[in-house]
Amino acid sequence: GFEVVLARSGRVVPVPAGRSVAACLIAAGVPLPLSCEQGICGTCAVRVLDGEPDHRDLVFTAAEQAANTHFTPCCSRAKSARLVLDL
Ligand code: FES
Repeated sequence: GFEVVLARSGRVVPVPAGRSVAACLIAAGVPLPLSCEQGICGTCAVRVLDGEPDHRDLVFTAAEQAANTHFTPCCSRAKSARLVLDL
């Protein structure tokens, strides 16, 4: 697992193995638009302020993924222990 940090409130939301970032955010009461939940549509895309996402979407190009400025919380995870999100 890893943690996501909500930059605007400072809240920390743990993401256990086997549970999506999106599911954990929604369970924590964070409003997050969702549609395909498979990394295809980009509806859920969130800006990443710090940390390294483990991109598992088909939305961003390889170069966009490598920039690590956005990720799709419905399916992508983290390579770093923490991801700081613009939420
Ligand atoms: Fe479609 Fe995340 S909900 S990419």
